[in-house]
Amino acid sequence: MGLGTIFVPQPIIVLNSKYGHHPNGRINNKRISLRMKKIIITGGAGFIGSHVVRRFVKNYPAYNIINLDKLTYAGNLANLKDIENEPNYKFIKGDIVDVDFINKLFADEQPDAVIHLAAESHVDRSITNPLQFVITNVTGTVNLLNTARHAWQGKYDKTRFYHVSTDEVYGSLGETGMFTEESGYDPHSPYSASKASSDHFVRAYFDTYGLGTVISNCSNNYGSYHFPEKLIPLAINNIKQNKPVPVYGKGENVRDWLWVEDHARAIDLIFHKAKAGSTYNIGGHNEWKNVDLIKLLCRIMDKKLNRPAGASERLITFVTDRAGHDLRYAIDATKLKNELGWVPSITFEEGLEKTVEWYLANEEWLNDVTSGHYQQYYDGQYNNR
Ligand code: NAD
Ligand code: TYD
Repeated sequence: MGLGTIFVPQPIIVLNSKYGHHPNGRINNKRISLRMKKIIITGGAGFIGSHVVRRFVKNYPAYNIINLDKLTYAGNLANLKDIENEPNYKFIKGDIVDVDFINKLFADEQPDAVIHLAAESHVDRSITNPLQFVITNVTGTVNLLNTARHAWQGKYDKTRFYHVSTDEVYGSLGETGMFTEESGYDPHSPYSASKASSDHFVRAYFDTYGLGTVISNCSNNYGSYHFPEKLIPLAINNIKQNKPVPVYGKGENVRDWLWVEDHARAIDLIFHKAKAGSTYNIGGHNEWKNVDLIKLLCRIMDKKLNRPAGASERLITFVTDRAGHDLRYAIDATKLKNELGWVPSITFEEGLEKTVEWYLANEEWLNDVTSGHYQQYYDGQYNNR
């Protein structure tokens, strides 16, 4: 078996077609075989992590999925209520920075793979508290790498360390151009600098020790269970409550948006198919100026809330820009398309409409995550801005 095929399903457990999902996410009509795997997914109670956990738990009943999460402000077990009782799912509360805890976890659970999403993920918080980003994103990642390096000694070809990263490591684009896997690293925010640093460590563990690592760098995600500190869910929440929608600067910054379930599907594919040491960019070829995105969101919200056309748009409020605000991100995902056949499954308009519907139907979730410390955070970021 070559390095590039370690996670292609092996003929140990035979399942019937009811569970017959290929790694690429398509349902297989024929009987297929799956080899038992134990996978630790870090940050599984967060936004993207919860979608990855759900996908793996549902699509791979022969895998044991361990969700390792510290449950910071961004982690929420309510994101996984629908699968929490599945027999192939287990939640373990813990900190990726804690050396003894991670060592013991590997010794107890003997995982075959890690899909690493746990991180501090919000740029504005990184501007306020950069050190926490170094601790979690850099030290936490190195701690996991180091434990895996020792625990998997002699079986790097049968194990996998998948690091989930961001397009923000490549820095900021001007009006044209796109990030490819060959683009140089040029991070500007403490968040992107910490993710860039963690990416470098992951590559160092492949180059130095031969650990079976894979990295993907994805563009901005949106969808259900997104914590309302990020632009889209924050705007949905504010529009719903007829509160001002803060747009930084002139709203001319551009982001490349991808539906979170398409990201989870890409992670699934890359996890199973990528060669050790490889990198994939993931993106939707879907660039939007912030102000245009918010206007589209306002139109969708007007429709869903039966408001007169233009009512929500009046809530748009331009506020002081973010320090060091990257102008434009755009991902070239050609490698992922050509090598693994991945393309986004829905348009942005469809995805945004689904997302708005989800937030309106899940008022309790939204109320829960915006109670407690959220108001304090919001006031700190936006009052007198
Ligand atoms: P999130 O902030 O929603 O979730 C992060 C999760 O990590 C939370 O559940 C939190 O409790 C957990 N966590 C934080 N510190 C931890 C620690 N020390 N130990 C264990 N768990 C800890 O983040 P997200 O938006 O879901 O992003 C997940 C990953 O994807 C991150 O690595 C991020 O850099 C990357 N990413 C995010 C985006 C995006 O648009 N959100 C895009 C590309 C890449
Ligand atoms: P965000 O969702 O924080 O993601 P990132 O900074 O990782 O791209 O922000 C997306 C864009 O929206 C970014 O250009 C900053 C901008 N933004 C606002 O204009 N207003 C806001 O309240 C927030 C949170 C972000």
